[in-house]
Amino acid sequence: MTIRSRHLKFSALTYHAHGVSRPSIFILTCLFFILYYHPMRLAPERAPYEPFREQLRLASPRIPEKIWYKVGPKGLSDQSHEWLHDCLHKNPAHSAQIMTDLTGDEYVQENFGYRPDIVDAYLSLTVPILKADFLRYLLLFTEGGIWADLDVSCGDVPIREWIPETMRAKAGLVVGWEFDVGWGQNIIRQFESWTIMAAPGSPHLMMVIDDIMDAIDQKTEEFQVSVSELTLDMAGDVIDFTGPRRLTRGILKSLELALNETVDMESISNLLEPVLVGDVLILPGYSFAASSNAYGNETEIGPSLVQHHYAGSWKNHNGGEI
Ligand SMILES: *[C@@H]1O[C@H](CO)[C@@H](O)[C@H](O)[C@H]1NC(C)=O
Ligand SMILES: *[C@@H]1O[C@H](CO)[C@@H](O)[C@H](O)[C@H]1NC(C)=O
Repeated sequence: MTIRSRHLKFSALTYHAHGVSRPSIFILTCLFFILYYHPMRLAPERAPYEPFREQLRLASPRIPEKIWYKVGPKGLSDQSHEWLHDCLHKNPAHSAQIMTDLTGDEYVQENFGYRPDIVDAYLSLTVPILKADFLRYLLLFTEGGIWADLDVSCGDVPIREWIPETMRAKAGLVVGWEFDVGWGQNIIRQFESWTIMAAPGSPHLMMVIDDIMDAIDQKTEEFQVSVSELTLDMAGDVIDFTGPRRLTRGILKSLELALNETVDMESISNLLEPVLVGDVLILPGYSFAASSNAYGNETEIGPSLVQHHYAGSWKNHNGGEI
């Protein structure tokens, strides 16, 4: 389902889908047709957000202007719906694609035919958060764009201005520190994974994907289970298994291979400005994770590009919405 903010008014509609995934897919499908044929589609109530911005240069010539979201069985909450709508309103050239459990499965089947191991593993996994983590890397690797968790809202800086102008031609992957400043020197730094921007075909994301495949192999071997029997307990820490630390390690490892040199952590830590390492743009903590970094009050920092509201709907024994 693709939504373009300019053609839509969905504030009058709610996405409340109850029960399991099939009804919610049915409702989303209906909603799509209602919206598609809705007379308001051609007559948005609010004018697009500063329309002149559409003439600005793209944030990156390589990163598609598409925002990926993924809903669980309960569909989109009113709050997420509001954030999504606001984000599209502020970024009129961007479209949103809302994936469901079903369309995620279909997407992976259709696009990873050349990697049956990935299709098998993805379809077999049952723990929702592991699939949701995995899916973002697969979507961004295939098509690129921007992944956004449903508990993320956009700040006022248009996405087209997220990448410093001098870095636009080079940036093929954009990540932001989750924990960088204010935690002392001995922390394990990680990139957040609620917002990731990528050009299609990033080798760094393929490294993350391959590392997840290896981790799945290891765990199924260790516990002598099939992928479908893999539980959250067996997987261990989600952050390490498929989450932000997996992302961070994979990207840095891949970068080191590509550059044939070690990435000096000093040079990418305690950032007050974005840095480009190879084709990876690393944004300071304040960009995507302002609330989890602490700067001295005399330190000049840049704008917060997105806010993460830490819904953490996966933090339960089920590893996903119940
Ligand atoms: C990588 O770096 C090492 C040492 O700096 C060098 O000997 C080697 O030739 C390099 N490999 C490639 C493929 O450039
Ligand atoms: C910075 O914060 C400290 C402690 O909260 C305060 O005493 C100080 O006045 C602040 N300085 C400025 C310039 O705001």
